Amino acid sequence: MCGIFGYIGKKENAPDMVLEGLKTLEYRGYDSWGIAWIKENKIEVVKNTGKIADAKGIQLPPANSAFGHTRWATHGGVTLANAHPHLSRDCTLALIHNGIIENYSEIKKELIEKGHTFLSETDSEVALHLTEEYYKNSDSLLEALHKSFSRFEGLNAIIVMDAKTKKFAAVKNGSPLVVGKGKDGNYLASDAHAVLPYTQDVYFMEDEDYILVDDKSVSVYDGSLSKKSIQYTQLDWKPDLVSKGMYPHFMIKEIHDQVDVLERIIQKKDSEIHVLSEEIKKSFGTYFVGCGTAAYAALAGTYLFSKIAKYHVNFTVGSEFGFLADFLTDKSLVVALSQSGETVDVIESVKKAKEKKARIASLVNVLGSTLNRESDVSILLSAGIEKAVVSTKAFTAKLAHLILIAYDLSGNIEVGRKYLRLARDSTKEILTTKNLKIISRLAKTLSAKEHIYVIGRGLSYPIALETALKIKEASYIHAEGFAAGELKHGVIALIEKDTPCISFVPLDETHGSNLAGAMELKARGGKIIGISPQKHDIFDIHLPYTDASVASVIPSVIIGQLLGYYLALEKNVDPDMPRNLAKSVTVK
Ligand code: G6P
Repeated sequence: MCGIFGYIGKKENAPDMVLEGLKTLEYRGYDSWGIAWIKENKIEVVKNTGKIADAKGIQLPPANSAFGHTRWATHGGVTLANAHPHLSRDCTLALIHNGIIENYSEIKKELIEKGHTFLSETDSEVALHLTEEYYKNSDSLLEALHKSFSRFEGLNAIIVMDAKTKKFAAVKNGSPLVVGKGKDGNYLASDAHAVLPYTQDVYFMEDEDYILVDDKSVSVYDGSLSKKSIQYTQLDWKPDLVSKGMYPHFMIKEIHDQVDVLERIIQKKDSEIHVLSEEIKKSFGTYFVGCGTAAYAALAGTYLFSKIAKYHVNFTVGSEFGFLADFLTDKSLVVALSQSGETVDVIESVKKAKEKKARIASLVNVLGSTLNRESDVSILLSAGIEKAVVSTKAFTAKLAHLILIAYDLSGNIEVGRKYLRLARDSTKEILTTKNLKIISRLAKTLSAKEHIYVIGRGLSYPIALETALKIKEASYIHAEGFAAGELKHGVIALIEKDTPCISFVPLDETHGSNLAGAMELKARGGKIIGISPQKHDIFDIHLPYTDASVASVIPSVIIGQLLGYYLALEKNVDPDMPRNLAKSVTVK
């Protein structure tokens, strides 16, 4: 939530580099943006509301140190004054912030009494004024930041720019920050891939790390300001993985990426999967946790583990986990699922589980993310960088891993691979031009609808929930997923003539009862869109895919993703950045 990018070094085009860096981080928030740079002994700032991608023809001056911020609003509306960076009155200090300072209002009162004037409604500006206040009585920027940060409650990442010393000071707790060490200078960013065009040597900041950066050096200090040694990780990611290539949006590019992602997962060595199955075998109770799309993958995992491995797994969404964690013990295993590895509710769940001495495992896409580092065992999803806010390939990568782990637990990992190959081939067929046209034509007919209902049973239930989420996020049409059997307990009252009802009807044990659910809807006027390997008279529209046994969850949800994408196009929504959302939710 909120993207941060900074550069300090020999290059003269720091503001332009920051502009480009912010563009790559915009999926973290796109309410407003701003850039600050040092010119002689003063700081200058440019700010704007709206998406940075829409800001054309910006002329930025040369400078060799600059930082910027792209905002997802929490405290204070989407206004120019609330946009970051915040600047001190004398223009010598500027600050950018990601997170929430929970106790900001009492500190703000205290600062107003001391004569500070606030220009914004943000909690972030309080951090600027408090640091400035401490800096008045100290000659160390880091000490001033340490004093102010120690007073804040909440999870935050803060960078301060100081025009006097020409340094940046940074600190984080919870929210991510990465330092990049380049040949011609140093970088700070919320996500490592933003620094990839310049360097592959990164340091993932630990909580309570304090960093002092200038054009030549980076120094790290712990929570008591004692100097630490710095170990850089060498990333082997390729910068071109971050481009849309021939596609108009990241969302559709990432939907297409899924064939390769599946192939990569099929190719994984047994040992890469065993690590997690062994943990599950050793544990006395396994609990899945995730948020949003990852939560639906986790829910699918509970069905897969029961069906394939005959294992019971508990599941809850990250924001509720803390209220259900009392029964965890040192024999429990918590498996956290997350694309970013930074979602605050997932990280908090892991912290709670650690307090109970439970083991932590994760399925996570981002190497070096907090979740990846905090886990005892972590499997990387290998989905490649996912940029669209509407998540697609990270979901199917989680499903594919869960299928392999479940088969591994049952001693048949090869069977899992066989079904994933079928799912990969089925996905290839779905992504042919002819099929895409059929789905986009359907989107045209659905785009004027106010409500869409999506039903499934068993393994298709989480797929129905995920499909409804894709439609909501990408098109703002109200879509709800339901367990097909629950319809008659209330939801059916909402069905009128021509209400679109998407029904997942795989060829598994739910086939007959799913058709029965669809018939109940049709009898009340519902228009049935059947996603199924087999045609049936009851379907008004049939979207077929080739059966892939238990891995049919993958091609069937990809049809749901495509429907979401084409609905977004019909509704003129940018599916890479839908309103009010952000890809990585690092605030509560
Ligand atoms: C946000 C994103 C969702 C994502 C969820 C969990 O809400 O918009 O697409 O599913 O966070 O993210 P994670 O990175 O933990 O998978």
